[in-house]
Amino acid sequence: PEVLVLNGPNLSRLGSREPDVYGRTDHDGLVALVARAADELGVRAEVRQSDDESDLVAWLHEAVDRGLHVVVNPAAFTHYSYALRDAAALVTGAGLVLVEVHISNPGAREQFRRHSVVTPVATGVVAGFGVAGYALALHAVVGAAAAR
Ligand code: DQA
Repeated sequence: PEVLVLNGPNLSRLGSREPDVYGRTDHDGLVALVARAADELGVRAEVRQSDDESDLVAWLHEAVDRGLHVVVNPAAFTHYSYALRDAAALVTGAGLVLVEVHISNPGAREQFRRHSVVTPVATGVVAGFGVAGYALALHAVVGAAAAR
């Protein structure tokens, strides 16, 4: 399978942004980690990051049009973007796998982070395992895609 790995706002600042919460791996390190995991699993994965909601919506449309599975960390959009949620629903509605990933465990943080508008339309969620969660999410995509 082919997988788009999408990162939302502020994730370009990984490594220096609240390292106690998000760890010390920067975005390039995350890209390298995803490449290694994809190699091991024999899947093709492409990582993209944007602070812009419209980019993320367009990339989810692209996933639908090209039949790509999705791993997405919607970052703060998780908590309030109905546009992203609706675009994510198009992906799972098309029979593709969409894994929501969070580096931290939002359920254990501030109240506003405890609600995700994306989860109801995601295939599943990986949260709280640091950047290793992206590798876990790729594993989950392979498993879920094989089960269809
Ligand atoms: C995050 C959690 C969100 O609440 C936050 O806005 C982020 C990152 C995570 O990966 O833990 O930017 O999605």
